[in-house]
Amino acid sequence: MLRIGMLTSGGDCQALNAAMRGVAKGIFSKVKDVEIYGFKDGYKGLIYSDFKMMTDRDFSGILTTGGTILGTSRQPFKLMREPGEDGIDKVEAMKHTYHKLNLDCLVVLGGNGTHKTANLLREEGLNVVTLPKTIDNDLWGTDMTFGFQSAVDIATDTIDKIHTTATSHSRVFIVEVMGHKVGWVTLHAGIAGGADIVLLPEIPYDLDVVVKSIQKRADAGKRFTIIAVAEGAITKEEAEMPKKKLKELQEKKKKKYPSVAYELAEKIQNKCSQEVRITVPGHTQRGGSPCPYDRVLSTRLGAAAAEMILKKEFGYMVAIREDKICKVPLKEVAGKLKTVDPKAGIIKEAKMVGISFGDEM
Ligand code: F6P
Repeated sequence: MLRIGMLTSGGDCQALNAAMRGVAKGIFSKVKDVEIYGFKDGYKGLIYSDFKMMTDRDFSGILTTGGTILGTSRQPFKLMREPGEDGIDKVEAMKHTYHKLNLDCLVVLGGNGTHKTANLLREEGLNVVTLPKTIDNDLWGTDMTFGFQSAVDIATDTIDKIHTTATSHSRVFIVEVMGHKVGWVTLHAGIAGGADIVLLPEIPYDLDVVVKSIQKRADAGKRFTIIAVAEGAITKEEAEMPKKKLKELQEKKKKKYPSVAYELAEKIQNKCSQEVRITVPGHTQRGGSPCPYDRVLSTRLGAAAAEMILKKEFGYMVAIREDKICKVPLKEVAGKLKTVDPKAGIIKEAKMVGISFGDEM
């Protein structure tokens, strides 16, 4: 008898169901005597022993569905180590559930925070296999995370739609794109959607350069400017601030502006005669059906995870590098962020076709 625990943790994204289906189908195709324990709402389910038994039927018809059939939640990594208000030592509780159910391994689908906890559980002796999910694409060790391409499609579609209204008006449009502290989604959607200015956390911007770029377009007879701004974008001054001061400033700004696009809009409006408009697609970027690329990627990763489980290879994240599926030790993944390299070819090429990153004229 093979006993597998499975959970999805952190913010959801497209193709979580497709990935779980890949794991389950891969296992069921080789072994019949299997029990899958689906933990509800992420690590919470493991902590509080809240699970449902899953059969092969549970994994049918979910390749194309969004969200996660198990539910998910965010569990701050820091809280995992210490008893919270409920007095429960969460790590001990998770270990207890794992051993009580006599699990052979735990399959965890998640992003950065999730991987820190998965690695902690590995250190505590549990057999863990993880799959890289997040629209942010910021997991170290894999070229691509599932969810990313689907989010890029949605953000691109937003910019496309803004383009048609932008051509009718002489305005500056700001589209705020998700991505937490990194700019992968913004960069790709910005290029794909033909944004004129792309602002990323990895390339701190100069407001004067942004305004001059808008003016340059207006002087050249271009009626509009579209700016794709990452939700984590920062200015050059902010990037040079001591961390503590920056944190204080960001706290202040959180009270004043709903998000970065509003602050940017106000600053541009103060220096620019064109009207400024804001679009924040927000969680739509994580919603809906996964795009074909993500369906393929998550199926491949899921099947590879199944193979690893059958071979009893634990303590790894399944990853994709140069289109090859591989395994990366969890201890190497945990706590590292994969950011956009400002010197990467893609930035140079984007600049060559006229995209401004707000850093230089
Ligand atoms: O990590 C995925 C993500 O969508 C980020 O891009 C975004 O910053 C964050 O999650 C939003 O989190 P929440 O869904 O908790 O508001």
